[in-house]
Parts: sequence; C-alpha cells; structure tokens
Amino acid sequence: MATPHIACEPGDIAPLVLMPGDPKRAERIARTRMEGARLVSDVRGIGAWTGTIDGVPMTAMASGMGVPSLSIYATELFTQFGVERICRVGTCGGISRKVAVKDVVVASAAHTNSSVATIDVPGVSLSLTASFDMLRGAVDAARASGKRVHVGPVYTSDLFYSSRMDIVPALDKLGTLGVEMEAAGLFACALAAGKEAAAVLTVSDHLFDGSGDLTSEERESLFQDSLEAAIGALKA
Ligand code: HPA
Repeated sequence: MATPHIACEPGDIAPLVLMPGDPKRAERIARTRMEGARLVSDVRGIGAWTGTIDGVPMTAMASGMGVPSLSIYATELFTQFGVERICRVGTCGGISRKVAVKDVVVASAAHTNSSVATIDVPGVSLSLTASFDMLRGAVDAARASGKRVHVGPVYTSDLFYSSRMDIVPALDKLGTLGVEMEAAGLFACALAAGKEAAAVLTVSDHLFDGSGDLTSEERESLFQDSLEAAIGALKA
C-alpha cells in the first residue's frame, strides 16, 4: 500500500521516526547511526530509511522545508503507516539572548503565523505543543551529554525571507527561544492524529547578534548532539 508521497508497505516504516528537514541528513543518520538500514521509499527524493538504533526499530525520513511539506509526510506517517512518534531534528535561528549558537533548543510549544494553528477550530488559535514524555526524553539525553539545553516556545514561520522581522522583539519579550519553519506543523499533525511529536533544534545562527558562520565540521558535530537528544525523545 502506497500513499501519494510514500511508496512502501506500512510494515516498512518503524513506529518511531527521526525527521530532519534535509533528505541528505536522513541518509546520513541511516549510514552513520543505524544498523541494517534499508531505503524503503524514495518518492521525490525524500528517502525513508528503516533500521535499528541501539536495537530499537526506527525510520529516518526528511520533512522538506516548511509546514506544508512537513504536514504531508507527518499526516501520511501517522494516519497510514502506524507511526506513533515523530521527532523533528533540525536547526533554528536564535531569538532569545539566553540562547547562543551551538546550544540545543527543545521546543515545548510552537507559536506560528501558519494557518495550521487556526484552521481546525474556528475562532481559536490552538496551542501547538510537544509530547511531555518525548520532551523529557530529549532534555534528559541532551543534559546527559553535557550540552547547553533550553526548553521553551519557538516560532514557526511560514517565511524564511520575511518582510516582518519587526515582530521578532515582541516574540523575544514573550520568551520565544528561536525561529524555524516546521515544529508547529508537526505538533498540529500529532495532535490531530492523537499521536506524539517533539522538536530538537540546534541554534545555527542568531537573529540579534548576527553570529553563526559555522564550518561544515562544526555543523556536523552540532547535528550529532541534537540527533542524540532526538533519539532520547523517541526512546523515552
Ligand atoms: N529562520 C527560519 N528558519 C531558520 C532560521 C531562521 O533564521 N535559522 C535556522 N532555521
């Protein structure tokens, strides 16, 4: 049985899914951190890799960029492939001055300008929140590795190149840790399906101090930190 965007049998996908934005990252997770990884679907170059991590069956599959792309994959995984938990593993731009480039941010909730917060219940802006158990698993794993880890709300923006950067100080005042483009969509899909989700983000740049020119080696080692926290979230 295939869906429009995933071409495999439900049994080919594990109940626990690691979801980076970039398909190359999903392949990297499979090649470097999975045992017995096999490519089970590759529609539009979005590879789904299934194997085991520390003996636990998991699938690594990318979301692409933004809420519309992520929500296609997350909805099909939750509703057609028996997936129970998805953990986004990605990057964010720092908003709060409490966070620095290279820190790990675990999103407890996601504010958004996407219609995903307002479309389901007319007149209500939904609180899009992470699974508590997954949140705890991510934070425990990040702390155990000695990382600087922050837990709080992030801002999921529909636009990377926005003409409304003037809203960022207001988000900062409300304790928003960083900006990215997918977490709210993932939390909305999980809530709609009665399943669980979390988002573990490495701070790749900072909106206020302009820092963030990381080398590719730095990016890779940072990604490993957030990957271990995301694995902790899925196993919790
Ligand atoms: N904006 C949106 N998404 C991001 C950013 C940003 O500045 N940095 C990393 N992901």
